[in-house]
Amino acid sequence: MRIMSESSQDLVRQLPTSERRILVQLQTGTGSASLNVVASQAGFPNEDVAFSAASWLQKKGLVEISERKTSHVTVGREGEAFLRDGFPEVQVHRVVAKAPQGASLVQLRNAFAEQILSIALAWWKRKGLGTIEKRGSETFLNANPTLPEAADERLLSYLFQEAKAGHDPAGTPEEQARARNPNAYDWLKSRPGLLLVHEHKQRFLQLTALGRQVHVDPASIDAGLAELTPELIKSGAWKGKELRPYDVSTPVPRTLAGKPHPLVQIIDEVREIFLQMGFEEIEEDFVQSAFWNMDALFIPQDHPAREMQDTFYLETPAELPVDERLIKRISEVHESGGRTGSRGWGTPLDPRESRRALLRTHTTVGTIRYLADHPEGPTRVFSIGRVFRKETMDATHLPEFHQIEGIATEEGADFRMLLGILQEFYRRLGYEKLRWRPSYFPYTEPSMEVEVWTGEKWLELGGCGIFRPEVTRPFGVKTPVLAWGLGLERLAMIRLGLGDIRNLFVSDLEWLRSQPLL
Ligand code: PHE
Repeated sequence: MRIMSESSQDLVRQLPTSERRILVQLQTGTGSASLNVVASQAGFPNEDVAFSAASWLQKKGLVEISERKTSHVTVGREGEAFLRDGFPEVQVHRVVAKAPQGASLVQLRNAFAEQILSIALAWWKRKGLGTIEKRGSETFLNANPTLPEAADERLLSYLFQEAKAGHDPAGTPEEQARARNPNAYDWLKSRPGLLLVHEHKQRFLQLTALGRQVHVDPASIDAGLAELTPELIKSGAWKGKELRPYDVSTPVPRTLAGKPHPLVQIIDEVREIFLQMGFEEIEEDFVQSAFWNMDALFIPQDHPAREMQDTFYLETPAELPVDERLIKRISEVHESGGRTGSRGWGTPLDPRESRRALLRTHTTVGTIRYLADHPEGPTRVFSIGRVFRKETMDATHLPEFHQIEGIATEEGADFRMLLGILQEFYRRLGYEKLRWRPSYFPYTEPSMEVEVWTGEKWLELGGCGIFRPEVTRPFGVKTPVLAWGLGLERLAMIRLGLGDIRNLFVSDLEWLRSQPLL
């Protein structure tokens, strides 16, 4: 009779079925075994489940888990071909043995592929299959009448059969393979492609002193505190049972589900918010003419942002067609203000400059094009898209990034409405505190910079303002147009706790997997 303390008896009573199974398995054996053996003999669906239970037994001081690395061998593709067709030197021996005078290399070259023959020659003498001799200018192979005992072939075939029988899913332990015939093993291993050797991590379980001492009756594997099952709930039988408490910190195998990239999740969220606020989504191409990206927005042709070092101009196509009359109309605005009430910049447009093809530097190109096509309000549209600027990459800058763009226009739209829209947008994203700083864009008046309070600091997120008449009038837009263009990546960095913007675009699988569904 065993003497157990109150507390270890209690410990046993609380053990779930899975842990009891492992204990019983170890206690009826020698007290130690590899995890995979325990898992299969104790009827676990896989090693992970058994490992989870074993980890608990370890925490409770009943079992010790250790790890050992072992090498296992299986037969490689070349080895399988050797088993199927015969080892090259044996194939050649078969042919040479039939020629009483030996076979010349020339004959053998006709009969065998170069590769087979060269392998055969390399092993011919080493294996004592025969001799090689020169007769005149010719080289001849003579075969010994009987093939020497082929221990390497037998070992290879044994390893192949073992793998097929599947005694050990990892293959035959290397030690065991070598022990069968060290010489033959080394021969096989020295020949490329015959054997595959893999490192295999194996876990071992061993009962601790306490684990040996506690008594779990094999007949009572299921007799501890009941585990709540759907059947118990359905039948109502749980009422009469003492249930084992759940332990939500039990280690479980990690399940990796597919999910959208974190940046895509944020884009979806932003889209959802604007849709709910009554906006419609628009899209434009990455490739645009300088006319739409800049001229139409009253950005003068000598503006510094147009320089080669800031904008990606394209070589093919180098130009895009733009309606000549449109260029003329906007040229007048740039030169003298046209009929907009402005005095303009004093310089007309160079149509060649207007037609230059570029990668859009902002998504405002999409909203001005939309306005040109839909001058009659009221309008509420937004876009989320990539823009391109020749920035030097660093922790806060990328040469391509996303902007959240939008316009709203209607009779009597004013600056307060603009602030209201942006306030509402950021509020729905979870940022209550905003502030505005006066700013400058050639196409808006007034122009503002939006900043949000992240809880730690003020974050500059983008620009906004009301389109100038120089921008709206030429297209027949009569109502005030509220416009904004906001950064997405900065927001994403705050949301995801990233210190380096580049991490959003490197596919670090571990990081991606660890990201929650927002
Ligand atoms: N296009 C500006 C930028 O890229 C943002 C902006 C859009 C400003 C609309 C005012 C109005 O920063």
